Order: sequence, then C-alpha cells, then structure tokens
Amino acid sequence: MAVSRTIAPVITSFALVLAAACGGSKDAAPANNAASAAAGAPAAASTVASAAGAATDSIGKQVFMTCTTCHQANGQGIAGTYPPLAGSKIATGPVELPIAIVLHGLNGPITVEGKTFNNVMTPWGPVFNDTQIAAVLTYVRSQWGNSAGPVTAAQVAAVREKTKSRTTMWTWPELQAFKF
Ligand code: HEC
Repeated sequence: MAVSRTIAPVITSFALVLAAACGGSKDAAPANNAASAAAGAPAAASTVASAAGAATDSIGKQVFMTCTTCHQANGQGIAGTYPPLAGSKIATGPVELPIAIVLHGLNGPITVEGKTFNNVMTPWGPVFNDTQIAAVLTYVRSQWGNSAGPVTAAQVAAVREKTKSRTTMWTWPELQAFKF
C-alpha cells in the first residue's frame, strides 16, 4: 500500500536520529528498539509527510541533526576544527565525494574553501541507510545558499557497493585517487 511505503522510511529515520542522539549510533540494536518504539508512537506518525519530495526534505533535515554538532545548524562549521558545508565545493561538487566521506569518514589534512583542517569525521555508513544519506546530502546541497542538485539513494548505493571493502576512514589524497 502506497501510504505505508511512504511512512516506513520516515519513521525509521526518526528513530535513528533519536538513537544517535541517545548515543546509540555505534550499535544497530538501539536503533531497532527505537524503531519499534517509534512505530507505536502516534507523534512519530504525525510527522509523516504526504508527498515524496516533502518526505525526502524531512528525512534530510532529521538526519542533519546528527551533523550539526560539528558542522553547525548554519553549515558554517567551527573555524580551525570543523569545516563548513555552506559554500563547500566538496559538499556541492560531484556527488561521489560527499557520499564516500559520509559513508566511510575522513581524517587527516584537508583544505575547504581556503582553510586547512586536520581532524577526524567518523563513518556514518553503518548508521544510516542509502535513502537517509541521499536525503541528508540533498539537504546540505540545497541550504545556506548552496544550490547543487539532489543526491539519489541509487547513487549512494553505487558508491557503497564500490567502496564496500574499505575498513578505514579516507584521507583526502586517497579520496582524490579513488576511481569512482
Ligand atoms: C564529530 C564531528 C562531525 C560530525 C558529527 C560530522 N562531521 Fe563531517 N566532517 C567533520 C570533520 C572534522 C571533517 C574534516 C575531516 C578532516 O579534517 O580530514 C568533516 C568533513 C566533512 C565533509 C567534507 C568537507 C566539507 O566541509 O565539505 C563533508 C561533505 C561532511 N563532513 C559532511 C557531513 C555530514 C553530511 C554529516 C552528518 C551525516 C557529518 N559530516 C557529520 C566532522 C564531523
């Protein structure tokens, strides 16, 4: 039934954000528990958007709550520590790079919009599914003056498949050398 197909990913995303906020992001089990809890909660069901586009927007916004600790709600990051997503040519460039960064994390020196960072972003590939990663990147690419095109779940799935043997975070030189 069309309605339940729309509702399920939204509820799952809602539950995952809750689980991540509660510190359960390293383990799939709390997310599953939260998913069953949320499935029974009328409050969660009432956040369900009817149109597919609106659903993507709301998933993206919810998943982005995980990113704001570091990149900040306004996407500006924190000077010297967390790079900006607003105006970032990495975030708004070819989709493979931001997808790969979110899936596997990134560490070591990197220059974003002329400023150097040398820090660690842990992988989110085990935490979020392809739809959620597509939605959060679509959100990032359309906020704060960014105007890059959307990212689809199929694009995330393709990068996930191509990089599935990876067990460590990227460094920037590795990412640039990788043939997507
Ligand atoms: C714990 C802090 C933290 C969280 C949470 C986090 N990031 Fe990052 N992110 C970083 C750091 C630090 C870097 C740069 C890593 C380096 O120095 O090599 C980075 C780099 C990036 C980059 C490439 C550089 C740029 O500024 O464009 C993108 C894109 C990105 N993050 C997206 C995300 C998204 C989307 C999320 C949420 C799903 C997220 N990050 C969550 C810390 C974080």
